[in-house]
Amino acid sequence: STAGGADRYAITQRAASAEILPGVRTPLWTYAGTFPGPTIESRRGRPVTVTHRNELPVPTVVHLHGGRTPAASDGYPTDLVLPEGREATTHMGHDSAHGMHDPRAVVTELTRDYTFPLDQRPTLLWYHDHRMDFTAPAIWRGLAGLQIVRDDAEEALGLPSGPRELPLMIADRAFAADGGLAYPALDPTLRERPGVSEPYLAGVLGDVILVNGAPWPVHEADAARYRLRVLNASNARHYELEAVTDDGHRLDLVQIGADQGLLATPVTHKVLPIAPAERYDVIIDFSGVPIGSRVRIVNGLGSGRTRDVMAFRVARKATDDSRIPRTLSHDLPAWRRSDAVRVRDFSFRTGRMHGGHGWLIGGLPFDPARSDVTAGLGDVEVWRMVADVHHPVHLHLVGFQVLSRSGRPPLPHDAGLKDTVSLRPGESVEIITRFDGYRGRYLFHCHNAEHEDMGMMANLEVI
Ligand code: C2O
Ligand code: CU
Ligand code: CU
Repeated sequence: STAGGADRYAITQRAASAEILPGVRTPLWTYAGTFPGPTIESRRGRPVTVTHRNELPVPTVVHLHGGRTPAASDGYPTDLVLPEGREATTHMGHDSAHGMHDPRAVVTELTRDYTFPLDQRPTLLWYHDHRMDFTAPAIWRGLAGLQIVRDDAEEALGLPSGPRELPLMIADRAFAADGGLAYPALDPTLRERPGVSEPYLAGVLGDVILVNGAPWPVHEADAARYRLRVLNASNARHYELEAVTDDGHRLDLVQIGADQGLLATPVTHKVLPIAPAERYDVIIDFSGVPIGSRVRIVNGLGSGRTRDVMAFRVARKATDDSRIPRTLSHDLPAWRRSDAVRVRDFSFRTGRMHGGHGWLIGGLPFDPARSDVTAGLGDVEVWRMVADVHHPVHLHLVGFQVLSRSGRPPLPHDAGLKDTVSLRPGESVEIITRFDGYRGRYLFHCHNAEHEDMGMMANLEVI
């Protein structure tokens, strides 16, 4: 469990099990025994140190997604936390044998202190495993948790808070009959086998939708405004979220924030697309919903049981003094195209790698020893990215803004400061960013976790 004083936490990564589906135990890899891991509440500008101790049978890496973090604590995929006092074993499956002897592992420790300055806009972050080639199965087995950064200015806005602020980590999983998580083979030779390669290549989907680790939960709500802080922690599943009442109305989803914090002004949606690793901060108002009825959160892209995500049962009348101010924040960067010192082009496409299929950036699979992008600290750059299929592209260290999609203006949900943007099939997306914060070696990659493991990642060096 989590221990420690105000701004120090200790997390033991260990095997545990939970009753996720009724009547069966599911073995998990966990942060501190739970899935999701413990939610870390923190304040802007107040550093947090998390000591991770690895009692899992494989090496791990911790990355705080969305954190503006010095490179030493950013969880580079070969900066391993080794399993403490253990040999590689075979009982947890094929990946232990591989990773233990990975010759590319350059930094290894038994426990590790990760220090996060959190000198950044308040927002919902998440921490998850980031080991080279094995991120997707590690997250699938449970290595994901939330961290929330707050500040006084945001708290003064009067947004719904306390029990009416709900972080929602949405993640799909597949289960075997005995309750174990079902994940397609990790052995690269099996990826080429018909029936194995296809779903694995595209990214792994499950048919059970979990919210904060529970399948299709029903939350008892007041007839009032709620702030839903939604993270898509799925390996590969995309959602188009809608809030549907029992009589078939769609409630407004009033977006107040993006990956990297509050928008300048709210944006109202009926349908909110959310790609893997994206976060949306949304207000939903249940005050007009009949008491005793339900509001279902559904995924318009799902079918059958993957259409349902969760539901709210509006249980009681309530007073509500929350507000949604017309102006939410004043501190969004105002980068212009003319500020950019460089325009870079990247393709995100499938291709051959290591004798099989992989996912490539600019035609190349990830290589920790290769230099891909070198950017000057403080430089503003425009990146143009083209995709074959859906690729949610994530940059470490920085937030960015979406400038255009295939030559057209950004979509309504592209508003604000983001760290992950969904490239849609065949699309060309331009983003603008400034490499602020720290010098060092970072990453950018597709956040379809299987694509990431199969090569769709590159080095971003800030000098
Ligand atoms: Cu959420 Cu590089 O990761
Ligand atoms: Cu990240
Ligand atoms: Cu991808």
